Amino acid sequence: MSDESRPSPAGPPSAPVRAPVAAVIPAAGRGVRLGPGAPKALRALNGTPMLIHAVHALAASRHVSLVVVVAPADGPAEVKSLLDAHALSGSAPSGSWGSTDFQVVPGGETRQESVALGLAAVPPEYGVVLVHDAARPLVPVDTVDAVIEAVRDGAPAVVPALPLADTVKEVEPATEPGAPEPVVATPERARLRAVQTPQGFDRATLVRAHETVTEDVTDDASMVEQLGLPVVTVPGHEEAFKVTRPLDLVLAEAVLARRRLNDGY
Ligand code: C5P
Repeated sequence: MSDESRPSPAGPPSAPVRAPVAAVIPAAGRGVRLGPGAPKALRALNGTPMLIHAVHALAASRHVSLVVVVAPADGPAEVKSLLDAHALSGSAPSGSWGSTDFQVVPGGETRQESVALGLAAVPPEYGVVLVHDAARPLVPVDTVDAVIEAVRDGAPAVVPALPLADTVKEVEPATEPGAPEPVVATPERARLRAVQTPQGFDRATLVRAHETVTEDVTDDASMVEQLGLPVVTVPGHEEAFKVTRPLDLVLAEAVLARRRLNDGY
């Protein structure tokens, strides 16, 4: 646990203790859209598994004191040894990642199940929980911190979001792949946002959402919306894109190359 999460003996007795932050990283998907091979989270980016990049990205925030990785159901041992190999297991030595604890738990059939299993492993003292896709390995620390700050300021759920470049059409999905699909609506682009992770939550709200919402969702914040609670956005970042298709791997390696040039990352 990082120092800021602990009550400071030197501080005034009335100083509020800032809620400790845990991050759950679902990494149990197969990633079929990326083509055949290892589970997506274990694919390499510049020689390092995507998951390790994602863990580094979250641990880079000095506010995050616990990271729970949700591994493929048959792969917790492999993931644990990967974290060990990158010196990220147990209590990491103090260094540029700060002092962050790590845990690995087996995942479920769906992303939602995997997140619930990770959330169950977060001890109750963590008042803020982030959920971050292993498939977004390059999220900048400033985005992570902006999400945490908004939750600590009182929002029950926070999502990083970006305006859209493309106009979006709602269609009647075809039953056969490639068949023409009737367009049924064109939502006003200026009111649309593409949302990313980490999404941040007041812990009790996220637990309640997972207990209450049973239908399939594609992000955690929409479960909170279904509870009727407010969800707010903070600015997302173009480097927090999700690695989904083969071209995304090329883009991710280009981003890493640019970072190395710019700041020696
Ligand atoms: O499939 P999609 O790209 O939406 O997956 C988003 C994230 O959820 C990925 O990091 C993936 O590993 C994770 N996931 C999971 N358990 C599943 C399916 C997806 O942890 N059963």
